[in-house]
Amino acid sequence: MVLFLIPMKLSKDQPQLNLNPTVRGIKPSATLAINERCQQLQKEGKEIFRLGLGQSPFPVPESVVETLRKNAYQKDYLAVKGLLSLREAVAGFNFRTQKIETLPDNILIGPGSKELIFLLQLVYNGDLIIPTPSWVSYSPQARIIGRNVQWVKAREDNFWRMSYLDLEELCQKDPDRPRIVILNYPSNPTGYTYPIERLKLLADVARKYRVILVSDEIYGLLHHQGQHVSIARFYPEGTIISNGLSKWCGAGGWRLGTFSFPPELDWLMKAMAAVASETYTSTSAPIQYAAVTAFNENPEIDHYLHHVRRVLRTIARDLHERLNNMNVELPLPHGAFYMFPNFDIYREKLVAKGITDSVGLCERILEDTGIAMLPGKDFAPEGNELTARIAYVDFDGKEILAAAMRTVFNHGLPDSFVTDHCPKLVKAFDNLGSWFDKL
Ligand SMILES: Cc1ncc(COP(=O)(O)O)c(C=O)c1O
Repeated sequence: MVLFLIPMKLSKDQPQLNLNPTVRGIKPSATLAINERCQQLQKEGKEIFRLGLGQSPFPVPESVVETLRKNAYQKDYLAVKGLLSLREAVAGFNFRTQKIETLPDNILIGPGSKELIFLLQLVYNGDLIIPTPSWVSYSPQARIIGRNVQWVKAREDNFWRMSYLDLEELCQKDPDRPRIVILNYPSNPTGYTYPIERLKLLADVARKYRVILVSDEIYGLLHHQGQHVSIARFYPEGTIISNGLSKWCGAGGWRLGTFSFPPELDWLMKAMAAVASETYTSTSAPIQYAAVTAFNENPEIDHYLHHVRRVLRTIARDLHERLNNMNVELPLPHGAFYMFPNFDIYREKLVAKGITDSVGLCERILEDTGIAMLPGKDFAPEGNELTARIAYVDFDGKEILAAAMRTVFNHGLPDSFVTDHCPKLVKAFDNLGSWFDKL
């Protein structure tokens, strides 16, 4: 069901913001809310550790910036599906990185993959199936459109991943029901990914029930070992690969996302392109030209990504050890810049302080220590665990990348690397440790 907004007169003393019953009740996204709270605390003079907002701290690779500079004059509307040379570059990228054949004609460029995921949910009338925990925006998008959301409970001892058995159980209840399944790996919020055997098992279930599978690979190139594998290899005919510049290219604010469709889903791409033509028209022209450089084979970007991954895996290892020292056990993340610790071991002590859920936990930690993390509940509304998402990005990406590039290319980074280059992260984790110690 799609709900339309009915204009209502506001009286003078009515609050301007919301609570108008004709307006759909969607809160601003959790990530933005925590950011605003941080700004407020900072204004009050408190030192803030920004582990909340999932933004890449690394600069955009210079060759991509240079292409953008050179194309600043591009002012024409582009084709709704996107610039042909960019769609060719994305097809080349899919083949180079995954050996997946996609036709430039089956690629859709949009202003961010978030917008493309929204458009897909808008044009395809099916239930949304996502694991819990999942990225914060999939389910609100479904709610805005009026789609059913079915959360598949993922277990902590399965790296918080969707199990193929659970997917099968859900699908077999109503085998012909239209469904979109979104898998995101390496995952926001957990940093974990799926091994090939799991991808194959999930692909078999997806094929059996003909689900539309969105493979959200926005962190694919940030797999810490550079070993990302796409599920589209195993269910090519039903998988849409979602990608973009925001994470591995450090260009979230540029707003460019890509959807790669199999020829079998051409009808779906056309439906999305039709809606795109009536809404955003096309993605910013200069950004599309710059993205051609980002997706084409480019030794400078390979070099950049090599060092970005070294930095991320070094920080992940260091912070993982610090969490272990707080008696918080979790497997080492596989990619991206997130960790999803569960502080359940402290539950009794926390309850004694009136903290009973992850929202209360993150609020209290923010107030007491200035550390901003996102509560697990934002990613798993039905979960009751004392989890939090840590985005370990509070460091100077430009400086740290230059430092990593000065070290020997293929060696591990020195032991003191995190202490030397991530003072805010180290202080945040020290503060967190003391906070738990004092409970
Ligand atoms: C898992 C995941 N998917 C999609 C997006 C959206 O990315 P963008 O719209 O910038 O392409 C994000 C952004 O945080 C994300 O974390």
